[in-house]
Amino acid sequence: MANKIIVLEEDIVSKIAAGEVVERPASVVKELLENALDAQSSQVSFEIKDGGKRLIKVSDDGWGMSSSDAKLALLRHSTSKIKSLGDLFSISTLGFRGEALPSIAAVSYLELVSREKDSLEGVKVKAEGGKILEVKKIGCPPGTEVLIRDLFYNTPARLKYLKTASTEIAHISKVVTTQALSHPQVSFKLVHNGMTIFNSPSTPTPYQAVIDVYGKDLAKDLLELEFTHPSLDIKGFIGKPSISRASRAHQTFFVNSRPVRSKILFHALGEAYQGLIPGGRHPLAILYLKIRPELIDVNVHPAKLEVRFLREKEVHNLVQEAIRKCLTSAQLIPELRLKEPLPQKEVGSYPRAERKYQFVQETSPTLSLREVREEYQRGRPSFEEIAVLGQVFQTYLLAEDRDEFLIIDQHALHERIIFEELMKTKKSSGVPSQSLLIPLTLQLEPKQALSLKENLNSLKEIGFVLEDFGGNTFIIRAVPSVLKVENEQILFDLIDEISEESLQSKERITWEKIIQMVACKAAVKAGENLSRREAEALLKEFQNLENPFSCPHGRPTVIRMKKSDLERQFGRR
Ligand SMILES: Nc1ncnc2c1ncn2[C@@H]1O[C@H](COP(=O)(O)OP(=O)(O)OP(=O)(O)O)[C@@H](O)[C@H]1O
Ligand SMILES: [Mg+2]
Repeated sequence: MANKIIVLEEDIVSKIAAGEVVERPASVVKELLENALDAQSSQVSFEIKDGGKRLIKVSDDGWGMSSSDAKLALLRHSTSKIKSLGDLFSISTLGFRGEALPSIAAVSYLELVSREKDSLEGVKVKAEGGKILEVKKIGCPPGTEVLIRDLFYNTPARLKYLKTASTEIAHISKVVTTQALSHPQVSFKLVHNGMTIFNSPSTPTPYQAVIDVYGKDLAKDLLELEFTHPSLDIKGFIGKPSISRASRAHQTFFVNSRPVRSKILFHALGEAYQGLIPGGRHPLAILYLKIRPELIDVNVHPAKLEVRFLREKEVHNLVQEAIRKCLTSAQLIPELRLKEPLPQKEVGSYPRAERKYQFVQETSPTLSLREVREEYQRGRPSFEEIAVLGQVFQTYLLAEDRDEFLIIDQHALHERIIFEELMKTKKSSGVPSQSLLIPLTLQLEPKQALSLKENLNSLKEIGFVLEDFGGNTFIIRAVPSVLKVENEQILFDLIDEISEESLQSKERITWEKIIQMVACKAAVKAGENLSRREAEALLKEFQNLENPFSCPHGRPTVIRMKKSDLERQFGRR
């Protein structure tokens, strides 16, 4: 019988290997940038066209390559960074596998020009789909320039999955700005379709790099952290609890200068802020960990994005301790507790509500969601005689409506109210917009600025007046009236969400979607105390809603229980 198993041809093997290393243009940029940094460059510049789909050019002034090394560099498993198995366990460079250049070359047209500092001439290597076509001597400045054209030209399946140029460049800018944070001494310049989108000159301090990436406004709300321990040095910046964010997008960790994603580090950070920021919010952090290379394994992820710590628990606890100490020494912990006194009169627990609260808790599994939905469909209540009883868990309002007992999710209901209001005004007169007395200047990360530019029109449609001021700065002149302007955080959260959302999707975000986001941001949150008056005002809106039973995301706003259901539960019937 013929063999079922065959040995794959080299061409297929290299494309499979390339698939692991090169997922999108940003992966190419990441690898070429790491090579430039490993070559001790002091300047790295990037010229990108069409989100990197047409062209990626990375030039550095590092130590360059000799003619023979430049040819070898395109061969799989050829590296100058490790020599033996032992070296694999004490890596201090960003690269170590000898896979990046051959993988990139396998799926593109590549040109590499390089000259060693003390050499009189340089070399140019041209390759197509990984095959070297030409090697020649050339006059060029010291350093290396790698030019990639038509990425994925020979792997159409990958090409199809690429997103719009603006999404791809946003990913690229994230890669560049992240490395800029850990290499302040290196100057970076990123140009896309002829426009400079990030430029950070060489600076002796990471703080200046943080300003270059995040802008001055955010940087002034960061605390500097420094912590030494025989096993681990930690330096960096953490956000004051007052500037927490809705996602983890602003948490960056470097382990020995390598940007990594690590559950352990995310967790340690979250734990350190326990009780200081509301649930569901995330602190900002840019932390640089220095650890003996033998104590980590960097060879655990195809894109080198993760590390494994030999002493996980110790690292977790030290990071947590470092952050906690920093917050305490900045006197933020006591200050914060004082800053958030409980409004005694408005805790929302009225005597009647407290009584009810107890039995709600004990008999909670009453109607299933399905039953509740069926119930809704049977007949819509008028909500005319609705009376507030109280608030429980600072999240749910309890109310009575004739012969029904209602449990209302305060956030979901408020979100629905704002959503319908905005949709209605959008369709009739247009969303009312509120001009700001003093326009707000927003300095954004390049990644966010790019997505914001993409979505300026949708934002305009719903009452934002935003001006692109250049250099990743925007001026906000007006916002939809429902947004509390004094709360800049809401704006930052909204922009974060818009930028995350547009990185995920191929299309521009519609104004309907933005209305949904605005409603969510502007609505009262779970965990907020509501006064009786506020609760009553909220419930009064029930009767005006077109669809009072679910929030714009489809979660229920209210759970209803008939008096007769309760009677049955208590065996009265
Ligand atoms: N910009 C550069 N300047 C100087 N040398 C370079 C540069 N880029 C690549 N090289 C040389 O080419 C070799 C191969 O590069 P490649 O990126 O393929 O592998 P690596 O960096 O060793 O490992 P990894 O696959 O993990 O990135 C490097 O080891 C380095 O010696
Ligand atoms: Mg490399």
